[in-house]
Amino acid sequence: MPHIVINGTPHQADEKTTVAAALMNLGITSRTSVSGQPRNPLCGMGICFECRVTIDGIAYQRGCQVEVREGMEVSTDAI
Ligand code: FES
Repeated sequence: MPHIVINGTPHQADEKTTVAAALMNLGITSRTSVSGQPRNPLCGMGICFECRVTIDGIAYQRGCQVEVREGMEVSTDAI
């Protein structure tokens, strides 16, 4: 199981899963809207951008399109 860091906290994710699925499995919201509402994946196929997160310092990555990998750092600070 890959070890990933989410918002500075270490976690383990399932093999062959996406970042968006890993966040959902851990009960972590993908991001917060400008009005403060929690947002989570909607389409699961790269269209809605509701799953956007920062991955290894690169902002606005679609979590539903990226597979977790060992050592990955994810931040849910995207607006
Ligand atoms: S869930 Fe819609 S783009 Fe990722």
